Amino acid sequence: MVVLMGGPSAEREVSLSSGRECANALTEAGFKVVTVDAGPDLCARLSEIKPDVVFNALHGRWGEDGCVQGLLEWLRIPYTHSGVLASALAMDKEKSKAAFRAANLPVVTSTLASKADVCARHVMPPPYVVKPNNEGSSVGVYIVHEAANAPPQLSDEMPDVVMVETYAPGRELTTSVLGDRALGVTDIIVEGWYDYHAKYSVGGSRHVIPADVPEYISKACKDYALRAHQALGCRGLSRTDFRWDASRGLDGLIILETNTQPGMTPTSLAPEQAAAVGISFPALCRAIVEDASC
Ligand code: DAL
Ligand code: MG
Repeated sequence: MVVLMGGPSAEREVSLSSGRECANALTEAGFKVVTVDAGPDLCARLSEIKPDVVFNALHGRWGEDGCVQGLLEWLRIPYTHSGVLASALAMDKEKSKAAFRAANLPVVTSTLASKADVCARHVMPPPYVVKPNNEGSSVGVYIVHEAANAPPQLSDEMPDVVMVETYAPGRELTTSVLGDRALGVTDIIVEGWYDYHAKYSVGGSRHVIPADVPEYISKACKDYALRAHQALGCRGLSRTDFRWDASRGLDGLIILETNTQPGMTPTSLAPEQAAAVGISFPALCRAIVEDASC
């Protein structure tokens, strides 16, 4: 088996960490593992190694958006996690929102706007969030809290077209789905907001699992996460992130996004949720491999 990791996306370091953890766990689970850092020679490397299955531990563009999945289909190598269409849909935040709306799942109002427009004026009334339409791990996220603040001056790395969405206040909840089972609900407690640093630094955030929320919210998170997974056509493991404004009850629960390649690092959420329902990390990786196909 090949564990695919690294790659050229903004989440390269996260993927290297996920890949290392998964490679160790899969070895422990009895698989013969070769790790491959995804680069321009990927097609040649895979043709040479001829693995029976690829465990995809890539995150972000090229590894999570349908590109590498298309290559693996072409090579007829079974691979883990979601296929081409689900990966592409989930990675495009605007398109995945459309799929969620069609499935009657709650999302915030959003629009695509040109970078020039976003820097020149408030394209929607604050508070709002500006983010790349297709990145993960909170890379390139700007939050505009007050109308008195100047419009955000986006960095050169930001794409020419970005997503602008209404800021959803409230608690940060998340639910992983493995196959057809929602694993649990985690409450992410963080000072400020759950940015890259809070996500990947030990002690950067505290995870309460199961989340201390009313039963109807816990049920709704599991129901919405499973329906989001199905609406996009995901396979294996996914993780759906929520905001919950407790003052608005069920109406205050909205989906932020579904991740088709959830982090598997030592501070990541899906492995903790699996452990909380008795699925060890090696067993989780094995279950993901059992769902591989092409
Ligand atoms: N994009 C990161 C890896 C996550 O969702 O866990
Ligand atoms: Mg994400």
